[in-house]
Amino acid sequence: MTTDLLVDVHLSEDDLRAALEQDVRNGLGASPKSLPPIWFYDEAGSQLFEEITRLPEYYPTRAERALLRRHAADIAAAAGADSLVELGAGACDKTRLLLDAMAAHGPLRHYLPFDVSDEFLRSAAAGVADDYEGLEVHAVVGDFHRHLDRIPRKGRRLVAFLGGTIGNLVPEQRQRFLFDLNCTVGTEDHLLVGTDLVKDPKRIVAAYDDARGVTAEFNRNVLRVLNAQLGSTFDPGRFTHVARWDGDRQWIEMRLRTEAAQTVHIAQLGMTVDFEAGEELLTEISAKFTPSGVAGELWDAGFVVDGQWGADEGEFLLTLAHPFC
Ligand code: SAH
Ligand code: AVI
Repeated sequence: MTTDLLVDVHLSEDDLRAALEQDVRNGLGASPKSLPPIWFYDEAGSQLFEEITRLPEYYPTRAERALLRRHAADIAAAAGADSLVELGAGACDKTRLLLDAMAAHGPLRHYLPFDVSDEFLRSAAAGVADDYEGLEVHAVVGDFHRHLDRIPRKGRRLVAFLGGTIGNLVPEQRQRFLFDLNCTVGTEDHLLVGTDLVKDPKRIVAAYDDARGVTAEFNRNVLRVLNAQLGSTFDPGRFTHVARWDGDRQWIEMRLRTEAAQTVHIAQLGMTVDFEAGEELLTEISAKFTPSGVAGELWDAGFVVDGQWGADEGEFLLTLAHPFC
């Protein structure tokens, strides 16, 4: 039975459609071509991401879960929050470690998962509401680039941005995002960010190019989203998944490469897109960080670090911070 579940929707079908059209016109009309990663996450894409988190090669989820198991109590004590906001909540799974620690430390009153993936969010949030009696679960469907100021202000908040999703933003977007977040949090609130760390590129590339090809399917899913939403004629089978480490920028890129030249029509945009032989479409970056780099970016956006927790092997990092202005 589902109890205490509220849902706010700030992305109507029309909003989403308009944003997709704009991203496709801009991204596929440009050279080099690119699409923002938000469009991976329809229901199928969200399920594929969940499958990725269970792959042997994909270490970030396991590493972050281990960190939360070990340090959630310290984090809950330092934040002293009775409300957990989770940006890009996905399956709301590791969240439970934080919720349990917050409940053990003091009263836990509100959980506000925020995500763009409407149905997936509703079902994950309902699962939390079912399992945590007395917790008010208030799900918010929105885009964290546009709707941070719509998140209801309830209680003293810990805002969690887990999974390394902040690494999917290019540096200018990260700066803007953190700055916007700083403007929406109160002086008593805290921010918890999960970031993947720079490590042996071979290990990173393997995590984004798994043997079973689940990440390749996740990558191609964006083409299926375009076909379904915009009536485009992408044949996902004609695009090869590429995962490439960029050592200068310290991020891994996911690309879709066509070996042969091809033309794709996007019926609902009246658009024709020509791909040359060997051309690649950039679909995601996933930046890897150093602890001091994370602290520096937070500082530049008006946050001071309270603590950082990393695994011994330097796999992944949790950073707790609060606004200083
Ligand atoms: N936090 C979870 C899920 C990470 S996957 C974990 O650590 O496992 C990234 C999540 O961010 C997805 O659920 C996706 O739907 C969401 N997301 C991606 N871009 C978004 C955006 N612009 N606004 C809101 N949510 C977004
Ligand atoms: C959601 N995000 C942090 C994942 C990542 O690792 O950058 C998305 C992903 N892309 C490929 N595998 C997983």
